[in-house]
Formats: sequence, C-alpha cells, structure tokens
Amino acid sequence: MVENSIHTATLSSKGAPIVHHPKRSFGETTEKGYKVEPLEFTWNRPEAEFQNAIDYILHDHAWYRSLLLKSHDCTMDEKKRICRILVKETMQHSELEEQLLWPFLKHKLGDEGERIRERILSDEQKLRELLQDMEHHFDDSFALEKSLRIFEAELVESMEEEETVTLPTLAKICSAEELREAEESMIKSRPYEPSHPHTWAPQKDLGIGFNKLNQIVGMVDSVRDALSGNQ
Ligand SMILES: [Fe+2]
Repeated sequence: MVENSIHTATLSSKGAPIVHHPKRSFGETTEKGYKVEPLEFTWNRPEAEFQNAIDYILHDHAWYRSLLLKSHDCTMDEKKRICRILVKETMQHSELEEQLLWPFLKHKLGDEGERIRERILSDEQKLRELLQDMEHHFDDSFALEKSLRIFEAELVESMEEEETVTLPTLAKICSAEELREAEESMIKSRPYEPSHPHTWAPQKDLGIGFNKLNQIVGMVDSVRDALSGNQ
C-alpha cells in the first residue's frame, strides 16, 4: 500500500505560454495516491509547469480525462479530431515517461524497480498497438468508435495504475531536484518526441543512441503531421 506521503509542489513560472500553477487544482492526494479530476475541456493541451515531473504527468492525465469525456458527447467529426489528438499527445506523454521517469525505478529500487518498469513498458506497448488500431480506422466511423472505447478503457486503467502506484512510489524515492529536472527535460523534449505509434521501436536499454533514434522518428512524425494538417 502506498503511503500518503507524497508531496507539496514547489512552483515557479518560466513565462508565457506556460501556465504557472500556484497549486495542483486538478485532483487531490489521498491515501491511495493521486485522485485526478478532468480539466475543463480544451482542444489544445494546456501547457503547464509545476517544477515537478509528477504534477506535469498528472496534469496531462487530467486533460486526457476531459478529452475522453468530450468524446462521449460530440459529433463524429469532433470524435475523429479527439482521436487524432489522443494519438499524438498520449504517444509523446508515454515517451517522456519512459525516458525521464521510469528509469528512476531501476536506478533507485534495483531489480524490484526493474520488474515494475518492465510491467509498465508492456502495458504501454499494448496502448501503442491500440493507438495504431485507432489510426487504421479513421475512415470507418463504426470501427473507430470501437477502437476508441477499447483504448479509453486501457488508458484509464493505465493512468490509475500510475496515479495509485508508480507515481506515488517515485514521489517517495526521487528528490525534489530530480523531479524538477525531469520536468524541465520533459517540457524541452516533448515537441521532438514521436507523435505516432511505432510498435517496432525499442523500449529497453534507453541511452543516447535510443534518444537520437527517437528524435529522428519524432522529426519524421512532425513532417508527416505538417503535411496532413494534423498539428
Ligand atoms: Fe501517464
């Protein structure tokens, strides 16, 4: 059971367009970890800075929940737009987690942490496959709806696992400085991360070679998005 230790975010602003949050306002810390409520719906991901990678991740989760809620009450065109947003934003989110947060599990907890990390990577691989499935069905409304609902169930389960187990664990084993630096790196590298699922991409042995490969894939995806008007 995760203790209700967690944290108080130390916060500052680096200026527009990043929003300065005086406190986390999208959820609460409970004895089971973090309880995250949906943000108010916006089409664009609200960029935010907390000086803490955990809050940065939770803020994304809060926004995903608002997109999923909206997807139950919208037109089919809007639903397709939401699916395209989910593909890009959840892909980049999981890349950031894999490169900048999950490695702490192994570094701080050794074999036990590595087992947790491998389980998370396996779940994220499944999410990538579901995203690919969604991308294949953009021209088939019935199939897209089905893919979206399967993805929604998996995403919610994955977020809840992170909010109740993985992130509270990281809050206990990482220093405030490590979490601040991790968030800073996330904000800087996010635009260069892959925005489409590539299920062939290596998930282990993350290092300089992997990061360069990932950034090349991210650049190719950016060009692909620009050409298709999917920014
Ligand atoms: Fe996450």
